[in-house]
Amino acid sequence: MSTPQKNTRKLPSFKFRRPAPIDTDDIHRIITHRLHGSRPVAWEDDVSRNTLDTEPFENLPAPSKLAADQFSNQKRLATIEPLLEDRTLQEMIAKDSWPIPCPEDREGYMPGHDGQYWLSGLEDYLKICKAAKRYNVNARSVFDFGCASGRVIRHFAAQSDIPEIWGSDINRRHIRWLYEFMPHTVKPVFNHCIPSLPMRDNSVDIISAFSVFTHIDTFETCWLAELRRILSDDGIAYITVHNEDTWKAIRKSVNDKTNRLVQSIMKVDENFADTLMGDMPDTKTVYRFCQSGPYRAQVFHSNNFLRQVWGRFFTIEQIIPLHHTRQTVLILRNK
Ligand SMILES: C[S@@+](CC[C@H](N)C(=O)[O-])C[C@H]1O[C@@H](n2cnc3c(N)ncnc32)[C@H](O)[C@@H]1O
Repeated sequence: MSTPQKNTRKLPSFKFRRPAPIDTDDIHRIITHRLHGSRPVAWEDDVSRNTLDTEPFENLPAPSKLAADQFSNQKRLATIEPLLEDRTLQEMIAKDSWPIPCPEDREGYMPGHDGQYWLSGLEDYLKICKAAKRYNVNARSVFDFGCASGRVIRHFAAQSDIPEIWGSDINRRHIRWLYEFMPHTVKPVFNHCIPSLPMRDNSVDIISAFSVFTHIDTFETCWLAELRRILSDDGIAYITVHNEDTWKAIRKSVNDKTNRLVQSIMKVDENFADTLMGDMPDTKTVYRFCQSGPYRAQVFHSNNFLRQVWGRFFTIEQIIPLHHTRQTVLILRNK
């Protein structure tokens, strides 16, 4: 483990303002950002997000500046502690000196619970490391597809000595955040929704994608082929999906107004609460919650579909039910 590289860029001063909690109605506004009527202002926003955005960021303090009670969550800590090995949580917090993005710049995740947001990324980072160990992956390069403002990759930057930490997203504001606040080991890339990535063939040892294929309604197979192209022969991909386990797990949330997944579908399908009580369709099912831009759907994949379609691109090593809250984790290797 090495000391994280410091970002030498002087951060612009900002006025600290804790944004009001976000309610689920705001999610559409957060992800679409600039609309003119129902159309994006710029053509680029048909295939990506926030291409013209220049608004300054209003960040929150670094993890080391947060009160200790921001990190108290018995359930999450019970998962994290066995994964720490010889490290302590306090040491890991002290290594991360970068600001935390405000909720609007972190996909609305956990407003008002900044320490929990940081812990959620740490948990995913530690789970990836555990999977990498199990599959004997010695990572020199990692890539988080749909990385947002670095919920997971900030931990690779702070806690590991991996020299190349790639992250890409279709939301340019997220990529701009990473350029401003992450160290130079992090290589942020702004991609659009037509599959193409600028990394070399066979060059990335760990690919992750958290809650991204749960939103990709079109061009999925082309993305799979692209990920397979860049994944090294000995590497793994760690990707989350909504599968049958998710379907069953969210049944009890039909009346939960804070459940973004269920609420976004119920807004466009008034029968969804009933549909959910039956079996999940044994295929890929797409619910579009808006019609503009590329980030507009909730997607479910049955295990059979994953084997039939994804199984042509990758060996599906493991399907781990509900390993990322209500999402199932797939561990994939190149065929
Ligand atoms: C639900 S958020 C998850 C963010 C991040 N992976 C995390 O777990 O914190 C989904 C992210 O995927 C991005 N996204 C959606 N479709 C994408 C695509 N085709 N290519 C790249 N990023 C995409 C969104 O902009 C957003 O940042």
